[in-house]
Order: sequence, then C-alpha cells, then structure tokens
Amino acid sequence: MKVTYYGHSCFGFQICGKHILTDPFISNNPLAKHIDVNQVPADYILLTHAHQDHVDDVELIAKRTNATIVSNFEIVNYYKAKGLEGSALNHGGTFEIPQFSAKYVRAVHTSSFADGTYGGNPGGFILSGQGISIYIAGDTALTMDMKLIPLQHKLLTAILPIGGTFTMDVDDAIFASDLIECDTIIGCHYDTFPPIEIDKDIAKNKFLAQDKELVLMEIGQTIEI
Ligand code: NI
Ligand code: MN
Repeated sequence: MKVTYYGHSCFGFQICGKHILTDPFISNNPLAKHIDVNQVPADYILLTHAHQDHVDDVELIAKRTNATIVSNFEIVNYYKAKGLEGSALNHGGTFEIPQFSAKYVRAVHTSSFADGTYGGNPGGFILSGQGISIYIAGDTALTMDMKLIPLQHKLLTAILPIGGTFTMDVDDAIFASDLIECDTIIGCHYDTFPPIEIDKDIAKNKFLAQDKELVLMEIGQTIEI
C-alpha cells in the first residue's frame, strides 16, 4: 500500500488501483504551497468531520475526479445537496468494496461546517485493504474506545493527531498507541497553525523512549507500507 502525505490530516492511499484521499486541506494550507491540488488523485474521499481544515478542498477535488465521498450521514448529505457523489455511514458502519473497506469509528471532538451547518458526529476510520489495516484517528482526544480497535483489527500503523490544543498531543498519542496496540505511528495535525506547532525532534525522541516509532512524513512524500 502506498501512502502519500499532502499536509495536515490529508493523506492519499493507493490500494489495488484505487486512490483514497482523507480530509483534503491543501490549497489554503500554508505548508502545502508546493502541492498542486489539481493533480491530487481520488476515487474515494474519506472525511472524518466537517471542520474547514479537513474539508476545504472537497468540492474542488470531487468535482474534477467524481470521487465518492465517504463520511457520516450529515456530511454526505451536505455534499449530495451540492450534486456530489457520496456514501453515508454512522459509527459502527463499514463502507466496503472489493478493493478496501473503511469502518467509521468514534472520535471525541466536534463537527460543524464553516457556514455553521451541523456536521454530524466526528469519527475516525479503520482502513483495510491488501491484507493491511490502518487506523485513521481523525481529530480526537484520547478515549478508552480506542481499546476496542485491537480486539478486532491488527494494525500495521495508525495516523494519530499529535499537535495538541484541538486534539491529542504527543504524550496522549503515545498513550493512544498503547490502547490501540500499535507501535508505529504516523503523525498528523501539527505545525499547520501556531497553536499546534511542535518540536519534531522532541516528539520523535519521546516515542523512541517508549520503544515506539513516530513517522513524520514530508509534505508530498510517498512511502510504501
Ligand atoms: Ni477538527
Ligand atoms: Mn482539525
């Protein structure tokens, strides 16, 4: 499975020829100026919640690619009303096609669109494909619900927010990695804005001290997992 980082909480996954994009916030991300949003591929767009730093480029990308938006009922209906394709879930539900599945799990956060429209309950996804499962936490606090995940899924890696203020910080993400029984974590939701700036070396060393690895991808970088 190939994973590309587009900045903040936006990742692209290539699974069996399908392109899955999460939480696109590229054109207004000051750290992603070198990414051409018009070249970003998407067959499916997974959205964890409706905040602007997760949905800002949804319409732009979905109109160009005809991608199917996969998210909670309220977010999918919001975009369907704008003429876009979508497939609605709620917590516990799974979007499934032969190439991959995406289960919508709980996140402790809020969810509203920039225009004030209610954005349903926020979530995360368990993305499974090619025999691999990845937890995409979305914006969330540490929560005991994370303990349910390893009871059902052996995670290869997890994408956790580490920037603090609006989500878990580095210390809570280390705690979360224990709850989800996954020692290789890809960090997201840091450095984009002043309130979520972190010291990356300190963060990586805190993980190392617990015999864990924090992977901080360069924006635009693609890795094979
Ligand atoms: Ni948020
Ligand atoms: Mn956010």
